[in-house]
Amino acid sequence: MTITTQRPRLAIIGASYLQMPLIEKAKERGFETHAFAWAANDVGEAAADVFHPISIIEVDKIIDVCRDLNIVGICSIASDVATLAVNHVANALGLPGNSLECTVKSTNKHAMREAFEQCGDPSPKSFLVDSETNLDVILENISWPIIVKPTDRSGSRGITKLYDTNGLEQALDEAYGQSFEHKALIEEFAEGEEFSVEYISQGGVHHFLAITRKFTTGAPHFIETGHEEPADLDEATYDRVKAVVEHALNSLGVTDSASHSEVMINSDGSIKLIEIGARMGGDFIGSDLVYLSTGYDYVDMVIDVACGNPLVFKPARKPHKASAHFIFNQEDVEKFETIKREHPETIWKAGDVDYSLLGNAHDSSTRAGWYVLIGEALDA
Ligand SMILES: Nc1ncnc2c1ncn2[C@@H]1O[C@H](COP(=O)(O)OP(=O)(O)O)[C@@H](O)[C@H]1O
Ligand SMILES: [Mg+2]
Repeated sequence: MTITTQRPRLAIIGASYLQMPLIEKAKERGFETHAFAWAANDVGEAAADVFHPISIIEVDKIIDVCRDLNIVGICSIASDVATLAVNHVANALGLPGNSLECTVKSTNKHAMREAFEQCGDPSPKSFLVDSETNLDVILENISWPIIVKPTDRSGSRGITKLYDTNGLEQALDEAYGQSFEHKALIEEFAEGEEFSVEYISQGGVHHFLAITRKFTTGAPHFIETGHEEPADLDEATYDRVKAVVEHALNSLGVTDSASHSEVMINSDGSIKLIEIGARMGGDFIGSDLVYLSTGYDYVDMVIDVACGNPLVFKPARKPHKASAHFIFNQEDVEKFETIKREHPETIWKAGDVDYSLLGNAHDSSTRAGWYVLIGEALDA
């Protein structure tokens, strides 16, 4: 008699390059990987053991296939839209994941601001608007400068900072145009320095991993230019940021997932929440910087949470300073060329530069290139 052992099947939502670290890690760990996405000739389609050409918004179809496959877990990294499918499937099949209520609150910026307000989390004053809204009342009740942004997009799409009503109409049109639900937020601008906070949660317990310093192009569009880990903040600030984020994760009902919380720290020390994604941070934060700066394999942890394996905090490598850098213009290209010539040993990974995009970035998807650097070793 031959006994064939079936490899455990892991469902992965999305098949773009963003999911590659997850697909590769899951295969390395012996899972049979099943990727679900709209067929677009993406790298993940060939990399996964089985590719299912079902759009990630066709959640009921994905549930049926996953039920038939008897998957042991479902996950995705770095995509808000994917968390909808992940958590719908997880809830339908009784697998670990966040609730559907949490999924709404962590993907819709208005639902998120409402949850923060109800639960007493520090969050800038924010108003929901659409093309029918009378803006007079809002403008009487808000202090300038303001931020205008779509309710449900990411990657700095449709974001504008305004100092007065000049340009308001255009900013709103831009935000409505980007928003899937054609709605926008007008909110008070939180001053300060920006950081993100990376956590992994299991069974409602939140495990801190890292604080990341964020660099952006600044006003008006705030496109990320780089990230640095660990953030150079004192211990007391680390503790205050962690307390704010853990409270906010509870306000959103995050129980079983990675999370990426964006915060602003003012020069007076006060902390304001910008937004929280119940998923790993993109821009190489989740896939590389956390691993390099803590030694913990974050992608492994996401798989463990998805399958209900208790998390193990055992560093897989010695922690080092780490940073991600994005190329916007010729000066950035030259800076990277200098690093390649003088300090090639610091380059952890790098992508090809798309010269046609130089000087043309209008959101994070139109940056011309990227590289990740590894710096000096840290005391573990
Ligand atoms: N209320 C705010 N106050 C200050 N800056 C903000 C505010 N809202 C957004 N920003 C800036 O715009 C960037 C993008 O906004 P965010 O809500 O995080 O959208 P996205 O989903 O595109 O990342 C933030 O990282 C921050 O720099
Ligand atoms: Mg953001």
